[in-house]
This record gives sequence, structure tokens and C-alpha cells, in this order.
Amino acid sequence: MGGFGLFLLYSILFSILRSSTALDSVKPSEPLRDGDFLVSADQTFELGFFNLPDSKSRYLGLRYKNIFPQTIVWVANRDHPLSNTLGVLNITSKGNLVLVNSTNDIIWSSNTTRTVKDPVAQILKSGNFVLRDGNDSNLDNILWQSFDHPVDTLLPGMKIGSNLVTGLNWFLSSWKGTEDPAPGEFSLQLDLNGYPQMLLKKGNKIQFRPGSWNGLSFTGNAEVLRPNPSFTYEFVLNKDEIYYTIHSLVVSRFTLNPSGTPQLFTWNDQTREWTIFNAAIFDQCENYAFCGAYSNCNTKKSSVCECLDGFTPKSPNDWNLQVWSGGCVPKTPLKCSDKSGFLKIKGSKLPDTSSCWFDRKIDLKECERLCSLNCSCTAYANLDIRNRGSGCLLWFDELIDMREITEGRQDLYVRLAASELDKITRKRMRQSLKAGIIAGSVILGIIMPLFFYIWRRNLRKHGMANRSFERNDYITEGRKEDMELQFFNLNTISEATNSFSSSNKLGEGGFGLVYKGILVDGQEIAVKRLSRSSSQGMNEFKNEVTLIAKLQHRNLVKLLGCCIHGDEKMLIYEYMPNKSLDYFIFDQTRSKLLDWNKRVHIIGGIARGLLYLHQDSRLRIIHRDLKGSNILLDGDMNPKISDFGLARTFGANQTEGNTRRVVGTYGYMSPEYAVDGLFSVKSDVFSFGVLILEIVSGKKNRGFCHPDHDLNLLGHAWTLWIKRKPHELIDECLTVSSTLSEAVRCINVGLLCVQKRPEDRPNMSSVVVMLSSGNPLPQPKQPGFFMERTAAEVDTSSNTHQSSSTNEVTVTILEPR
Ligand SMILES: *[C@@H]1O[C@H](CO)[C@@H](O)[C@H](O)[C@H]1NC(C)=O
Ligand SMILES: *[C@@H]1O[C@H](CO)[C@@H](O)[C@H](O)[C@H]1NC(C)=O
Ligand SMILES: *[C@@H]1O[C@H](CO)[C@@H](O)[C@H](O)[C@H]1NC(C)=O
Ligand SMILES: *[C@@H]1O[C@H](CO)[C@@H](O)[C@H](O)[C@H]1NC(C)=O
Ligand SMILES: *[C@@H]1O[C@H](CO)[C@@H](O)[C@H](O)[C@H]1NC(C)=O
Repeated sequence: MGGFGLFLLYSILFSILRSSTALDSVKPSEPLRDGDFLVSADQTFELGFFNLPDSKSRYLGLRYKNIFPQTIVWVANRDHPLSNTLGVLNITSKGNLVLVNSTNDIIWSSNTTRTVKDPVAQILKSGNFVLRDGNDSNLDNILWQSFDHPVDTLLPGMKIGSNLVTGLNWFLSSWKGTEDPAPGEFSLQLDLNGYPQMLLKKGNKIQFRPGSWNGLSFTGNAEVLRPNPSFTYEFVLNKDEIYYTIHSLVVSRFTLNPSGTPQLFTWNDQTREWTIFNAAIFDQCENYAFCGAYSNCNTKKSSVCECLDGFTPKSPNDWNLQVWSGGCVPKTPLKCSDKSGFLKIKGSKLPDTSSCWFDRKIDLKECERLCSLNCSCTAYANLDIRNRGSGCLLWFDELIDMREITEGRQDLYVRLAASELDKITRKRMRQSLKAGIIAGSVILGIIMPLFFYIWRRNLRKHGMANRSFERNDYITEGRKEDMELQFFNLNTISEATNSFSSSNKLGEGGFGLVYKGILVDGQEIAVKRLSRSSSQGMNEFKNEVTLIAKLQHRNLVKLLGCCIHGDEKMLIYEYMPNKSLDYFIFDQTRSKLLDWNKRVHIIGGIARGLLYLHQDSRLRIIHRDLKGSNILLDGDMNPKISDFGLARTFGANQTEGNTRRVVGTYGYMSPEYAVDGLFSVKSDVFSFGVLILEIVSGKKNRGFCHPDHDLNLLGHAWTLWIKRKPHELIDECLTVSSTLSEAVRCINVGLLCVQKRPEDRPNMSSVVVMLSSGNPLPQPKQPGFFMERTAAEVDTSSNTHQSSSTNEVTVTILEPR
């Protein structure tokens, strides 16, 4: 038996070894067969046939030779997969590069138009797969190249844009799914109408507009392109070509993922993994034209959309209902004969430039003159903001898709009637005068000493503050020097927590007691003393914690470091002054502090944090214990998910003897998880759905009672939904008459998330879109677990993380195998 097994193994190994040949070029006489690889001269890239996990479809694709798991950067036959391993890449007698299947049918072709005597196909160092004349020593004489036909990945040196001479259009198009390279819904392209601008489209619809190039970045993305020595970005506009490209000193790629998120990855040779260098997090304002015309978007304000000065909502009614897409109109309509002037708007994402006129030489004065000469000109701006600005952009249409960029350096000059301009100038002067007088007297008395105090505190905190480089709506992962996990020693922590005194105890979380501490430098921390023995060894634990610490997002509690001393393991987090969500929403008085806007903000924040865990971070974390007490609130009531990643460390799929652990909390656990121990991102979606319903209703799912029936909150919400009375679910303390539709929308999304079958539940990227867009939503099906009391309940002692509420426990069920 053993001998036979060994023989089998050998023959398999042998067949693998035998069948794989590395070629340095494909020629008519040397085609590339399945199993062989065409390798670049520097051994970085290879081209060959591959399939994706759980699929038999074979594709011809380009990947990094030494990076595992395989990272595909280009696919030839993305929408015509081969059904077996008999595909061949050959060069025809006409010099065409063709992929044929076993019946010799052409599956894919380069459609080369020029013919040469001695064609060869090779991979260049850049990752460009080219067909050229093997007889020609000039390497730039290329007949066809993969760089002209990008898939979802932009390698350094590739272009997004257009060749105006050949008409070639370079754009990224997402995969349909992580396992399907066929063209998906999303594309990232340069729109050449008016002044060229980058657009992210879903189908034909503009989803997000990074905007036009201002010399430093796309005007909508001031944050994304912070200067970095490893990368340079280039925008080229001349009579032959218009394109955007990246140059990089390190191994990197810019990829549009299947859910439509553009991400820049760099390869970390030490950890041997891809690091997301920076990625946009989509908030409402990034939805194209979210605020309509002449309106500024800013999610940090209570009214997300605000008309520009001198403009007023087109439909005040819609505006009050927070339906903003109608936009604004001038308070004083402007006729051609009227006197007009320009109002400067600072730090703005420039409006849609698709109908702009531009000139790259004119200065701002001349630009203003040109605009004022033509009465259909609505605004002007500098085209390039480097060196105090140059060039001129003129708008002749409504100004749409603007947003405030706090640190932005781009100014826009908007045309207004002279009378309106006068009013605004006078108002602003009055305000600054008033502010000046008040400030003058206050500064001397109170603010100065306070300012000094804060300033000095900040100085001391600076070391810590440096670790945080989330800013605005963008996150940056992976700069080595910032990322190193801090190891605290036991003395430091013991001192900070007053020797773990009971007066410092904040609560008991899923994995141990939590204490408040203050470090010598004044920074407040929360210390989680892990009670459970993890099945991992010390090094594994360190690795795991290091990975968790790399997850950084504005809606995740920041892990600052850890402390390991003998058997004792502790995690050090940033301290959250406002405890947790359940502390507010389930309390009669405190719930009044969370008005509807705050609740929407919290729901959106949790959704984005969870999306990041599920999809955008490099670890793909399933939380498994999402609940009110695990949503902490910072000083501004921003929600932050805590305890993420711990389920990995103390995970459910680790066998311990003959038991299997299920970590989770009743009331939030999906049926498939609680009953069968099956967890997936969809079990998190279920818990999130419960959270939405709890936030909207102010009631706990578990322990919910109603005089009319025996259902839990999910059942109650479902019943009201069917009876078309969902508004009865809304917390009485909310005066949401103006935002009723938004609340009902949240309930709808909540119910979609708690549907019984995991496959019916949306994933978090859809949830984020559903919450922020106004598109019609699907009807939910019956939720899982809506007869609460029939489900098994296990109650042990009370505990929560940094919270004083009771009644909610993370349970660990030990099931016999
Ligand atoms: C590849 O193309 C050459 C030239 O057209 C042809 O002679 C050869 O048979 C082809 N090989 C395969 C495997 O199709
Ligand atoms: C080869 O491709 C042709 C055309 O797409 C298709 O009809 C044929 O079934 C394919 N052969 C195999 C063996 O897949
Ligand atoms: C080659 O031409 C065919 C037929 O016109 C087309 O379907 C295919 O997409 C072209 N291939 C490439 C790589 O452009
Ligand atoms: C091209 O190749 C042919 C033979 O394959 C050779 O005779 C000729 O000199 C080559 N031409 C150049 C320009 O290298
Ligand atoms: C103003 O500009 C628009 C758009 O460029 C143009 O169509 C129109 O002719 C111009 N009007 C005048 C008076 O120059």
C-alpha cells in the first residue's frame, strides 16, 4: 500500500516537473502549452495558463513569478475561458498572437495588423507582454503589447487615458468577482470631454469622480496622493496622448477590485504580503453629483449638502427631507445684462469638467477676464495649483459634484450677481468683525491659558499621535515606521492602571477584563487583560497581534500595542471616553443624546468599519461577535468597532480536544452560526442587521417584549414591515418626521441583513451603497431567529467591554464532536 502511494506521489511529482518548462520567448516554432511558462528575463513575471480556486476554467494570464498566493495582473481570455488544459498560445504565420483550444478554434487573438518575418513574444521587466520583431534589435519596435490592453491592474509604467493618434483607449475594468476575471461592472477611465478627468463608472453610470488633475493630484483626492519617495504620479497631456501613470521604486500595483474600489498595493518582502498603500473609503460625498448643482458636500456637517453662498435649494421641501440631488439655484437669477462678480470658494473639489474650456498658459487674471466676457461662463479656476497656480479652466454649465476638502489648496471662483456678492461680502465682514471682538476679549481671558495647556499636552502626546495617519476619509496602511507594534512592559501597564485596581475597571469584554489606564505621557488607554488561554504559542500570538494592529480604519478601535509577561497577555487600545453604543441606545435618558443624524452617522460608520474588515483590509476578518457593547464611541460619538480579530486568535475553528467553540452573543448570532457553528461574512452581516434595528428602535433584540406577541425584535420589525407600518418601530424619542424615509430605509436594510438564508443577505459593500444611495431597495424575506424564546439561551455572568450595561454575554458553547 505504502509503496503504491509513494509511486503515485512520484509519478504525480514527475509529471508536474516534466510538464513545466520555462521559456524566454514564444515563437511560431515554439508555442506555449498549458503547464509551460514564459518568464521575463529578470524572473519577475511569468505568463502561463492558470485557473482560480474551485474552478476548472483555464485562463492565460500574467502573474508575479515569486509571489504567492498568485497575483494575476493581466488576463488574455478573460471572458472566454478554456474548458481544459489543452490550450496553446501560438504565433500564426501572419504574425498574430493567438490562443487556440483543443479543437484549434481561436479563443483570443492579438489582432496584430503589422506583419514581420520573425515575430517573437516576450515579457519585459516591466511586466509588459509584447509581440515584436525578433530580428529587430530596437526593443521599442513593438507590434502588440499587453500594456495597451489593461485588465484590472495598472502596473508602474502602464497608462490610463488615450492615445489620440491611434485611438487606443487605456482603462481599468474590474473583475466580475474575485474568482472570475470576466469584465465586471466597474471601470476606471479618463474622460476626455472638456478638460480630462478621471471617472469611476459602474456600467455607464458615473459612480465616483476623482476629478481633473491639478498638477499634484486629482482634485477630489487631495489626500490620496500624499508625496512619497517610492511613488511618483504623472499626468501627461499633449497633442498625441493624454494619460495618467504611476512610477514606483518598489514592487507595486494599482488595482480596481471587483467591488469597485481602487487600491494601491505594495509588496512587503519581509512579511511576504501585499500592503494596501492607500485606498479611498467611499462616503456619501463620493457618490457622483450627490448634492446636485451649486452645492458643497461635507459628511462632517450636520447637513451633508450645503448650497454655495449666494445659492438656495431648488426645492426647499426636498432639501428638508435630505433629498439633495435637486441641488441649488442662484438666490438672484443672473441675466446677461446684469452686473456680476466672482465669489472665491476655498478648498474645493472642482466641479465636473466635462464641458469645460481650458488653456494651460493663461494666468488667473486673464482667466477671470475671459469668464466675465462671456455671460454663460459660470465659474473659473486655476488648472494647475503648483507654483502659485497657472492655467485656466472655465465652466459654462451648472457646477456639479463638488465637495469641501479641508486641506485642499484648490480655489474656485463662482459667478454671482453683483448685488448678491455685495450682501455676502458685507455679511462676512460683519461676522468676522463680531468674531474678532468676541475672540479678542475671550482669548486674553480664557482661551490663551487653555490653548497653552492643550498645546503642551499635544506636544507630549505627539509620539503616540503619530501612529494615526487616518485622515479625512482615506486610510493609509503599511508605512513601516508607523506600523510597528509597541510592546509595553508589565510595570508600565501596572503603573498606568493603578495596579489593575478595581476602580480602574471598565468592564468585562469577550476575552477578559478591561481597565482604564493613563500612561506617564498623559495618554489614556484601555487595557484588555486576556483571560482565556489562547491555544497559540507566544510567537504566533505576537504575529497575530501585529497583524491586527495593522488594521487601521477610522471606525475601528486602534490597537496601540500589547504586553506579554509570562502567561499574561494584554492588549492596549486607545481609550474611548463615551463607552459603548448599548450604554446610550438602551437607556431612556441617554438615548435622547443620540438624535437621528447621530444614529445614521453611527450606522454608516459601523458599516464602513465592517466593510473594511471584510473586504478592504488585507486580512479579511470576520468579527463574529458584533454587538452594541462592541461598538465604542469616541469623544465625538464616532463609532469604533472593537474586539475584531480576536476571534481569529481564540478562534472557533481551532479544535481543542474534542470540542468546538462557538464565540458569539445570543441575540446577534445568525441561525447558521448559533446552530451549526458555520460562520462567514454573512453571519457578521446578520449581527449588523440586528444592530441597525436596535439603533433605529432603541430596543434590545434579546429580551424584547411586546404585549401583543411573543416575538423578538426581529420578529416584531418583520411583522410591522409586512403590515406596512415600519415607522412604528422607530424609537419614540426620535423626532424623525423630516427623515422618516431615511429611517424606513434603514429598517429595510436591517431586515435584508437578518434574512434567514445567508445567501439572501447582502454583503457589506452592497450595504454601504444601500445606506448611502437613494436607489430602490429589494424587499426583505423572513428573518432568521425571530421567535426569540424558542432559541436556546445561555446566560452567565454579565460582562461588556468598557461598558456598564449588563445582560449581554459572549458565549462559548462547548459542543461534543
Ligand atoms: C503554431 O504556428 C505555426 C505557424 O503558423 C504552425 O506551423 C504550428 O503548427 C502551430 N503550432 C500549434 C501547436 O498550433
Ligand atoms: C473551442 O472553441 C470553440 C469556439 O469557441 C468551441 O465551439 C469549441 O467547443 C471549443 N472546443 C473545446 C474542446 O472546448
Ligand atoms: C480581436 O478581434 C476580435 C474580432 O474582431 C475581437 O472580438 C477581439 O476582442 C480582438 N482582440 C483583441 C485583443 O483586441
Ligand atoms: C533577419 O533574419 C534573417 C534570417 O533569419 C537574417 O538573414 C537577416 O540578416 C536579419 N536581419 C536583420 C536586420 O537582423
Ligand atoms: C460663450 O461661451 C460659449 C461656450 O464656449 C460659446 O458657445 C458662446 O458662443 C460664447 N459666447 C460669447 C458671446 O462669446
